[in-house]
Amino acid sequence: MKFIATDVSDTKRKMVDMAATQLSKPGFAIDPYFYRSHVTYQAELENIIFKSWLYAGHISQIAKKGDFFLFDIGEDSIIICRDNKDHVRAMHNICRHRGARVCEEASGNRRAFVCPYHGWGYGNDGTLKAARDMHNVEGFNVDDYSLKPVRLVVFQGMIYINCDPDAADFAKPLSNITTQLGAYDLENAKVAEAKTYRINANWKLCLENYLECYHCASSHQHYAKLHTLQALAHKVKPINEAMWARAEETTGVTGIADEYYGYYNDSASFGACSYHSRYALYEGFKSGSKDGKPVAPLMGHMKGYDGGAGDFQMGPLTFMLNYPDHCVLYRFIPRSLTETDMELVWYVNGDAEEDVDYNKEELTWLWHETSLEDEFIILRNSEGVNSHFFEPGPYHPEHEATCYEFITWYLKALSQVKVS
Ligand code: FES
Ligand SMILES: [Fe+2]
Repeated sequence: MKFIATDVSDTKRKMVDMAATQLSKPGFAIDPYFYRSHVTYQAELENIIFKSWLYAGHISQIAKKGDFFLFDIGEDSIIICRDNKDHVRAMHNICRHRGARVCEEASGNRRAFVCPYHGWGYGNDGTLKAARDMHNVEGFNVDDYSLKPVRLVVFQGMIYINCDPDAADFAKPLSNITTQLGAYDLENAKVAEAKTYRINANWKLCLENYLECYHCASSHQHYAKLHTLQALAHKVKPINEAMWARAEETTGVTGIADEYYGYYNDSASFGACSYHSRYALYEGFKSGSKDGKPVAPLMGHMKGYDGGAGDFQMGPLTFMLNYPDHCVLYRFIPRSLTETDMELVWYVNGDAEEDVDYNKEELTWLWHETSLEDEFIILRNSEGVNSHFFEPGPYHPEHEATCYEFITWYLKALSQVKVS
């Protein structure tokens, strides 16, 4: 991404006014201001990203006591750890003395986190155990200086965090998709592969691209051959209806096709989205692979291939595409104004063995290729919206409906930011 010139007159007031003005022009793509403004990026972190439930990782990443991994958001870092008492914890990776990162390793196993600066030592539950010579300091109490905790929910083996201590509960919104997601038994699933794609574009461009399939026919030749989501609903209604009619019997999961819409403006509370719908693959295809054939054994409780795929959202930035034989998770995390990490995780059944039951290349082929195609178009999109002469055009009311839903939610959040 080219360097973006700083608007020296930019202020929070301007951002709030811009959001309100944009809301008064419904149905149109947003002004380039929102992709270019450093003030807006900071406000997004504080008021949207750090108040949203975000997928941090899978429980298998911390199977043993002392196992941990780091989850980075923006410039921040969070330690996700299984402590000595077997509790899963999330805590800020910031020393309570003078703020050094207490852990640099991306993952590992530790009984303690010792700050590299002045040596304060924390247990793997975050409690401060040792602070050299501080016992002589009047009023100093180690109990006051544990690593700051981060809100955490574990749902079907998926770990979600929220940096807002006052965030509303997420377990309840997720319970609306218990049956549909439960079909894949993700708690006991295996992470077959995880890849991070660093996209040199603003996080909203990456998310907008994910949330609409208007571009699928023109940008994703392989995907579009298999998935009916690329077409308008009325054109593929008979294929979907036939799949819904056989879904429960074929998969053996009662309620697998039940829809639940609780995303963005309809979520139970801010940043606690949950959503599921099941849509059909074109006739003759069973899974999301190069040729539409299965690439792994059936997952969890699934008994067969109904020609359907589960489309999920869990929090504003996390999604899943679940085929009967494998699941693909997508998560978008802002890293700077012009950089986004798009993380993909491929899950297979817990007892599936690599090169026996599945081949990593075959398993990941479709969504790896599709992600590279997305990166290609997102970068071009970014170039265009960051030129000085871009004038936003209209969204398609059906093809881009979810994208517009996100943008409306986003603008409402920005327009409510306090200016003082
Ligand atoms: S900053 Fe960590 S011990 Fe001083
Ligand atoms: Fe795409």
